[in-house]
Amino acid sequence: MQPLVTFILLTAWLVYGIVRTATQKYYWVPQYHYLTPFASPCVSDSCVPGSSHFGRWFGSFPPMLPLAIVTLPFLLAFRLTCYYYRKAYYRSFWLSPPACAVPEPRQGYTGETKFPLIMQNLHRYFWAIAVLISLVNTYDAIVAFHSPSGFGFGLGNLVLVANVLLLWSYTLGCHSCRHITLGRINHFSRHPVRYWLWERVSWLNERHMQFAWTTLASLVVTDAYIALVSSGTISDLRFVG
Ligand code: FES
Repeated sequence: MQPLVTFILLTAWLVYGIVRTATQKYYWVPQYHYLTPFASPCVSDSCVPGSSHFGRWFGSFPPMLPLAIVTLPFLLAFRLTCYYYRKAYYRSFWLSPPACAVPEPRQGYTGETKFPLIMQNLHRYFWAIAVLISLVNTYDAIVAFHSPSGFGFGLGNLVLVANVLLLWSYTLGCHSCRHITLGRINHFSRHPVRYWLWERVSWLNERHMQFAWTTLASLVVTDAYIALVSSGTISDLRFVG
């Protein structure tokens, strides 16, 4: 059952992401500066006015090309090469093997030592790019404290901030990040700052699977909330401004 549930949830998330990014619609709320992470950074002439926080690098995109095409491939690669997601999709999509203590069904299994799976070793580099993208998402969440009269915040800000905090928790809990903080060190006592960081990262790392799933959920919730407000289906609940 577990591989089946994982398969259904991951497939549903991918379908949602593909549909939302291909529509190129309802990704920006101009009154409150809410920008969905699915369209960030928006760097083409196709972006509606105000949504290009980092300038316009390209001309107009053809229909269905994701507006965040400069970051989405890296985020996808980051998640695909993540240690947790590897376990999840090796078991649920490939059944290779579907669980612990179940024999590997394939003959000549080579693990991740040959192409293409050896590419999983690029994860640490995708992690560095994901950190930069998390900074972009953080910036988006900060500039969203906006209202037509200046400063303001509403329920959309709480959603955006919660999403960013979860994204950082997932990104900093990465196994590569844990290695960066205290890998190849024999004497923890001689590196108190790195040890302190390693303890924090390890706490996140122990919950990496939970953050992997909650960030998928928070990304959908954030995007759906902004789409509903942007399309006029609901109004943002405003606390200030
Ligand atoms: S191991 Fe999951 S993000 Fe690096």
